[in-house]
Amino acid sequence: MQFLIEPGGALTGTLRVPGDKSVSHRAIMLGALADGESTISGFLEGEDALATLKAFRQMGVDISQPSDGAVRIRGVGLHGLRAPGSELDLGNSGTSIRLMAGLLAGQAFSTTLVGDASLSKRPMNRVALPLREMGARIGTSPEGTPPIRLEAGEQLNGIEYRLPVASAQIKSCLLLAGLYAAGTTSVIEPAPTRDHTERMLQAMDYPVQVAALPGESGATRISLQGGSSLRPGHFQVPADISSAAFFMVAASIVPGSDLLLTDVGVNPTRTGVITALQSMGASLELSNERMFGGEPVADIRVRYAPLHGVEFDEQLVPLAIDEFPVLFIAACAAEGRTILRGAKELRVKESDRIATMAEGIQRLGGKAQPTEDGMIIDGQTLSGGQVDSYLDHRIAMAFSVAGMVASGEVRISGCDHVATSFPGFAVLSAARGMRIREVQ
Ligand code: S3P
Repeated sequence: MQFLIEPGGALTGTLRVPGDKSVSHRAIMLGALADGESTISGFLEGEDALATLKAFRQMGVDISQPSDGAVRIRGVGLHGLRAPGSELDLGNSGTSIRLMAGLLAGQAFSTTLVGDASLSKRPMNRVALPLREMGARIGTSPEGTPPIRLEAGEQLNGIEYRLPVASAQIKSCLLLAGLYAAGTTSVIEPAPTRDHTERMLQAMDYPVQVAALPGESGATRISLQGGSSLRPGHFQVPADISSAAFFMVAASIVPGSDLLLTDVGVNPTRTGVITALQSMGASLELSNERMFGGEPVADIRVRYAPLHGVEFDEQLVPLAIDEFPVLFIAACAAEGRTILRGAKELRVKESDRIATMAEGIQRLGGKAQPTEDGMIIDGQTLSGGQVDSYLDHRIAMAFSVAGMVASGEVRISGCDHVATSFPGFAVLSAARGMRIREVQ
């Protein structure tokens, strides 16, 4: 499927983007392990979160068909999962495969985790190595990519593990393995990463200790002991700030825009995109700040404002890791030069997001210079043209925003994967003013 975007199309009115992907995955996983029935509202009915849901059904968990974001899960307790009849196919979803590798490493049954062509190329040693240190028997391809094979019946032991990269997926993988480990499992993160797993565990009365590491600025130790139980409850999923980010940028750069994004998750480990845009001169106003369970949410009013280039603070990288594709488009529309460094992780996402974004921007006549760990962009009007999304949902949506400020029509190929995180993106965007069409 392709997206066709015509220039212009100021964004106005009110918009609630779909539920948070990270929180939706975790609600299914932890709800499945709780002692009794949980409910979810605002669940993201995107392909990634649905892959997690299906995998837990395959392991014997009764989960209702999502209906308008509402899901009911009959939790089976920490030790109630059953062997799936076949391998678990996690599609395009890195979060599913890495978190589930941890959750399943200490089970009494074996599992094989597989994914689509993109997921099958992504690095899994980052979780396999520490899980082996905990005692798991785990296999990957010779290149350290999926399939992941987890052998039955290994007793896991808690370890203290210092993350070599600031990654919430590795942290969460090890904490979930820690639920099944003897003793204490501790993860030290060099800089804050999204903390939804910790918040959700605490909300379910599972004790988790979080402490700053003395003498190491920004570093935190997160610890838990295996063997407690999870109290079921209600999970209210915020609107996904990573999906809202496309509209934050679009409304900032298209003259005449004035858009209210509602119920957006503003967990401080996710708000790097707001800080980054404000540093470029964007007009973003938060109001109605409140809590959805353990997660802060707010409504965000975005109005058009001229942007200027900046050098992004490297500390923002883990706090905006999924938002750089669209931040690069903000940089194209900004006056002057924008520089990003310290973001090598972008090279191992659903695509190599430094390479794919640089290629697309250059195809539209923009000035993007990829570097080993970031990008240098000089703001300049983009032209129309054809861009490849490389089957990466966020690349497709970022270039849709680019099309709004280009001088001619932008055509983006390979847009089917947008449904992994944002089903209905084109219809919702068009309803708020974007001139976007889907064509087969
Ligand atoms: C996620 C963590 C991030 C992010 C991904 C979702 C999560 O990955 O890019 O989209 O839900 O924990 P890393 O931990 O690999 O940075």
